[in-house]
Amino acid sequence: LKKNTRVNVLMAVALGVLLLHLYKDFVDNKDIRFHTDRRERHNQVREATKNSSYVFSWPRCQQNTSAANITGFSSLPNNIKDFLYHRHCRHFPMLLDVPDKCGGANESGDVFLLLVIKSSPANYERREVLRKTWAKERLHNGVWIRRIFISGTSGGGFEKERLNKLLEVEQREHNDILQWDFSDTFYNLTVKQILFLEWMERNCPNARFLLNGDDDVFANTGNMVEYLQSLKDNDGSKHLFTGHLIQNVGPIRSSGSKYFIPVQVQESDSYPPYCGGGGFLLSGYSASVIYNMSKSITILPIDDVYMGMCLAKAGLGPASHMGVKTAGFYVPSKNLDEYHPCFYREVLLVHRFLPAQLYLMWHRIHDPKLRCDPPKNPNTNKERNP
Ligand SMILES: *[C@@H]1O[C@H](CO)[C@@H](O)[C@H](O)[C@H]1NC(C)=O
Ligand SMILES: *[C@@H]1O[C@H](CO)[C@@H](O)[C@H](O)[C@H]1NC(C)=O
Ligand SMILES: *[C@@H]1O[C@H](CO)[C@@H](O)[C@H](O)[C@H]1NC(C)=O
Ligand SMILES: *[C@@H]1O[C@H](CO)[C@@H](O)[C@H](O)[C@H]1NC(C)=O
Ligand SMILES: *[C@@H]1O[C@H](CO)[C@@H](O)[C@H](O)[C@H]1NC(C)=O
Ligand SMILES: *[C@@H]1O[C@H](CO)[C@@H](O)[C@H](O)[C@H]1NC(C)=O
Repeated sequence: LKKNTRVNVLMAVALGVLLLHLYKDFVDNKDIRFHTDRRERHNQVREATKNSSYVFSWPRCQQNTSAANITGFSSLPNNIKDFLYHRHCRHFPMLLDVPDKCGGANESGDVFLLLVIKSSPANYERREVLRKTWAKERLHNGVWIRRIFISGTSGGGFEKERLNKLLEVEQREHNDILQWDFSDTFYNLTVKQILFLEWMERNCPNARFLLNGDDDVFANTGNMVEYLQSLKDNDGSKHLFTGHLIQNVGPIRSSGSKYFIPVQVQESDSYPPYCGGGGFLLSGYSASVIYNMSKSITILPIDDVYMGMCLAKAGLGPASHMGVKTAGFYVPSKNLDEYHPCFYREVLLVHRFLPAQLYLMWHRIHDPKLRCDPPKNPNTNKERNP
């Protein structure tokens, strides 16, 4: 009799486990159906996404095996092959979110400048120094500056787990990271930008302006606010897209280059005008236009060029801003310190700073004792010294 009872108990447990699995399958399938429908039912879903936890469970994007049939595929570098296999993937599960970053969608118009900083998980020191310097969340000239880092994942196995943990710990303290589960590689930066724009449409649609850039730039965000406030006819609801303007260039066809784009990825030999991805300013309106256009433009793995393509499709274009120096900085003489704060006080953005240089520069340009003989910017007048 005892033995029979034990068998009964075992059977009951087995049945329980089976039911649990069936239930889980049912829930998972429902999720997948929901995501598929989503593309068609944008507006209804806007309602549903008030509970944004759905974004945490996108099904894994399947490799497109037909990509291997593209002419010359086998001779392409591995990262290009990898790109072609995943070119159609635009959704990845979200790992970290800050849905209330802008105070909720309805209130997001209170955010004047949203800093959207591309950062891969390992760049802890860069994020830390930005939090203390130009990306500090604050009220400047009466308007709010907010900060968000956008990230994928790096490495595999335990390394990936550790880096994810790092971001999780940072998130607990700072609440400033959006992370999705895709590998944070150079050729995946376009995906990162599209995912951000989708997030923005959902969580921060009325932010006035954005600075979109890298985590290794020196950005004079105070000057940016003042410049944007000076645009009397644009409160963010009109087109603005400005930075280091690049025109009349096309894909680099040499396979050794970081920017290599073979004809299998883009046949045309020209790119539309675009702004260098190190850092550019855009309005909330233009961000929305770019996102809308991106839905019908095949992904090109160079993110800044892709933004230019989206603008071109909307009949809009990027503009040039003198203060954005992502392609180098002119210092008039070898006898001058290229890191003299007077060179940096008036600019908007300069590319490539190490964390320590950045920390020091931010403090030096805000030193009330700093005196710069005019002109302060060597690039507007090359004769005078600081
Ligand atoms: C959001 O949805 C998830 C799963 O559908 C549920 O577990 C969670 O409790 C919901 N959160 C809120 C705030 O409604
Ligand atoms: C690749 O092309 C060959 C020949 O056109 C075709 O038979 C095969 O089905 C294709 N493979 C894939 C995965 O599309
Ligand atoms: C898969 O790749 C082939 C070859 O480039 C392409 O024609 C097809 O549209 C791709 N499929 C998807 C779903 O993107
Ligand atoms: C946001 O605004 C819309 C339209 O005015 C309104 O229907 C909705 O209730 C608001 N949501 C919140 C959370 O206040
Ligand atoms: C982009 O990320 C996806 C998901 O992690 C990965 O499968 C793919 O290989 C990545 N693409 C490139 C070009 O790194
Ligand atoms: C982008 O598309 C959405 C949804 O269709 C729409 O509400 C929004 O106004 C569009 N944005 C712009 C700038 O046209």
